[in-house]
Amino acid sequence: MTTVLVAGATGSLGSLIVENLLDRGADVRALVRKSSVNKVTAHPNLTPCIGDLTGGADTLQQYLDGVEVVVSAVQGGPEVIIDGQQELLRAAERAGVHRMIPSDFSTNLYGYSYGVNVLSDLRRVFADAFATSTVARTSVAIGAFPEYFLGPVHEVLDPAAGTFSVWGDGTRPIDITTIPDTAAFTAAIALDPKTAGRDVHVVGQQLSMLELRNEVEAASGRRWELVRKGTLQDLRAEVVRRQYTASSIVEYVALQHQVAMFDGTASLRDIRNADYPDVAPTSVTAYLAGSGAAHFTVPEMTRHRAEWPTPV
Ligand SMILES: NC(=O)c1ccc[n+]([C@@H]2O[C@H](COP(=O)([O-])OP(=O)(O)OC[C@H]3O[C@@H](n4cnc5c(N)ncnc54)[C@H](OP(=O)(O)O)[C@@H]3O)[C@@H](O)[C@H]2O)c1
Repeated sequence: MTTVLVAGATGSLGSLIVENLLDRGADVRALVRKSSVNKVTAHPNLTPCIGDLTGGADTLQQYLDGVEVVVSAVQGGPEVIIDGQQELLRAAERAGVHRMIPSDFSTNLYGYSYGVNVLSDLRRVFADAFATSTVARTSVAIGAFPEYFLGPVHEVLDPAAGTFSVWGDGTRPIDITTIPDTAAFTAAIALDPKTAGRDVHVVGQQLSMLELRNEVEAASGRRWELVRKGTLQDLRAEVVRRQYTASSIVEYVALQHQVAMFDGTASLRDIRNADYPDVAPTSVTAYLAGSGAAHFTVPEMTRHRAEWPTPV
């Protein structure tokens, strides 16, 4: 039985990675912060380990003896993605862990350079730490989660206005994989020793923005007006403009992802779905017919905008 430690085990993705690893017969140690331990459900092969990545390698090491693979699905700023994951890597080295999957789970972020995307830069800095490590890195790339890509942050679908917005000509295929499918692939990849030292690209479905709009119209049964926002040059300029005025990276990081998705630099390459035939990814049609249908309704908060308190 392979022993896997999962950091970020209470998160949207991490909790499903834990479930998939258990289904595949792994012995799982779930690294959880003390305040989140009640989010972990009991299972005979699951051991909760209370710890914080920012607590340092010495406190993490006690949980890593006998662990073969570490999977990190944490989310956060540089203190978590760079410093915290480096502490986890140091602890893993000392315990003789073979492989680690860092918290990438993105488009092909190694297909473009520093400075394109602020969140990818954090992951790239952490990836450099493996150059001198005894632990082999396995990066999992999946494209965009539709749960986020069709949500408000990406500004593609606007259910209140009934619009579907596109930068560029909208014809280049983009990579889309749901969170549950990412978890299923990641568990399979974590238990596959051949992935040591490799970037593994897997995908739910590839389709262009114009095809995605057709899917949205078919699933929702209504028309979504196509809004052409501008060229990719215009998109890059919009990112720069927002960087000067934004109060938070949330205001521009989704557009940074879109720059690299739509110009093709972040496209997945050498897709390895065939290596994991027991993972049957969800089509966009099936996603939109299920939980994805929530994207078509106006969030309650937005609907009652007129009733929002006036800022003082
Ligand atoms: N491709 C895409 O479209 C896409 C979209 C979104 C996210 N992602 C990626 O998917 C990965 C997981 O994201 P998610 O949405 O599942 O994140 P999430 O739901 O916010 O979960 C984050 C997890 O990290 C844990 N965590 C945060 N700081 C920690 C610390 N200092 N020590 C230990 N644990 C800590 C949290 O623990 P608590 O429960 O204690 O808070 C939680 O379990 C990230 O790499 C993210 O960038 C990809």
